[in-house]
Amino acid sequence: MTAPSPDLTSAATSETSEVSDVLEVAEVSELSEHDWHRDAVIYQVYVRSFADGNGDGVGDLLGVRSRLRYLAELGVDAVWLTPFYPSPMADFGYDVADYRDVDPVFGSLGDARALIEEAHGLGLRIIVDVVPNHTSDRHAWFAAAVQAGPGSPERDRYIFREGRGGGAEPPNDWESIFGGPAWTRLPDGQWYLHLFAPEQPDLNWEHPEVHEEFADVLRFWLDLGVDGFRIDVAHGMIKAPGLPDVGHSNQVKMIGAAVVPYFDQDGVHEIYRAWRRILDSYPGRRIGVAEAWAPTPERLANYVRPDELHQAFNFHFLTTPWQAAGFRDVIEESLATSALVGAPATWVLSNHDVKRHATRYGGGAQGLARARAAAMVMLALPGSSYVYQGEELGLPEVLDLPEEVLRDPQRLRDADSGRDGCRVPMPWSPTEEPPFGFSPPGITETWLPMPADWRHLSVESQLADPDSTLSLYKLALAVRRDHRDLGDGTLTWREAPDGVLAFDRGESFRCLANMTNDWIVVDRPGELLLASAHPAFSGNVVRLAPDSATWWAVENV
Ligand code: BGC
Repeated sequence: MTAPSPDLTSAATSETSEVSDVLEVAEVSELSEHDWHRDAVIYQVYVRSFADGNGDGVGDLLGVRSRLRYLAELGVDAVWLTPFYPSPMADFGYDVADYRDVDPVFGSLGDARALIEEAHGLGLRIIVDVVPNHTSDRHAWFAAAVQAGPGSPERDRYIFREGRGGGAEPPNDWESIFGGPAWTRLPDGQWYLHLFAPEQPDLNWEHPEVHEEFADVLRFWLDLGVDGFRIDVAHGMIKAPGLPDVGHSNQVKMIGAAVVPYFDQDGVHEIYRAWRRILDSYPGRRIGVAEAWAPTPERLANYVRPDELHQAFNFHFLTTPWQAAGFRDVIEESLATSALVGAPATWVLSNHDVKRHATRYGGGAQGLARARAAAMVMLALPGSSYVYQGEELGLPEVLDLPEEVLRDPQRLRDADSGRDGCRVPMPWSPTEEPPFGFSPPGITETWLPMPADWRHLSVESQLADPDSTLSLYKLALAVRRDHRDLGDGTLTWREAPDGVLAFDRGESFRCLANMTNDWIVVDRPGELLLASAHPAFSGNVVRLAPDSATWWAVENV
């Protein structure tokens, strides 16, 4: 590994103005087999909104295949695909009706197979979503359970109970994450549990057939060549014995902060030990990533003990406001707790469930400046990072979608928390009108409408601009890939003025992030490698722009 050229900040134009014909990428087999996940940059593709290959206004696997080269050239290591399985789409694919197939709206199993092969040929690993906490209400098992009636073995695969108050009241006080009671009553009088939408009945993970089924589903996709799984609601499968009441309402506010009887129960870890044995029985390092909310960092670390999963999302980092002291605290805490179990820390700023970070950090020019700086901080930290599609373009949350197009089930129950605005399709080309290359030429309607001013944010426009957010991500990923001190490893904090986050990686790299609204003067640390906003030099000092991050080559620290 070599240190990158110090003038990368100005070297972007020729490298990024066009997609090169010759792509220098490693075959997957050349990559380090066992530890790739410890420093991987994993790009989240929300399949519905990434690229539409067949012209129906909805993203699909063909579309993803057509853009794999873009992802390889961006410089990420792996791609996580959100669910593409057959689904009535009550929760846009997180309600799975068949775990071993592809929904026609997204393509076919042949497309999935081709996508995995093509990605591997470009040096990209593929992670797929698995949704084990609940199925769709159209899954064959649930249909059979409804049909078979109370007391039947078919109902045992789900969580059916009699109601209270003579049967008319739900069996306990649990609330759905999407709002309202977590129970729905069938015409025959029994209630079933759904921690999410009524169309997403919770499975009974005390039942051996459920374990067997998911072991088989994992093997199905591993045999097809996937490199890992993102495990949806990984903290939810086991419920406290007797399904005790929580005791009060507004339970969604407790998630990740307090103990609730339906999340983070100790029994879930037995499931992950069994899954780890399956993952380890395949060649290469196949990984499991927990989407888990736990009340303490220590409890979150339990999911990534050496015989369990490989990574857990760090939502604490994502929810930390733009402020140096808070960032430092969450970084320290994350590194310390993942070190407890020897797992890599992970970092994430946005995903398909939260408001995009350019908007969370204030929106407009300031939000974008902070988002660019945050990405540079994230990519300099020890461990593995997640990039949500479109954040490399600096996309904001779309806050003014017309009422009639809003589709997210969470929003239907809670008007303030809808997730449609972070799921608007990606702009690829600066055509006159939307959908900006998202769909093939001639198609104008997309499943969510795209803002007219996204033309200038399109991939092609940004590739041609050395100062664009896309160029910044490409350069940052290139530096990170080549630099011996970045990726896995440790971090050393440096003294810095208030509001500045300063840390070293190894002996030759420093990251300085000015998280204030003012220019801040510091001693010039060395040669500038990369900047989210250009600093001003003057003799031995340098003035860091407000809301900016800079990377430096330093010596003898
Ligand atoms: C997914 C959401 C989904 C929920 C229920 C989550 O954590 O990321 O998009 O609505 O699980 O499956």
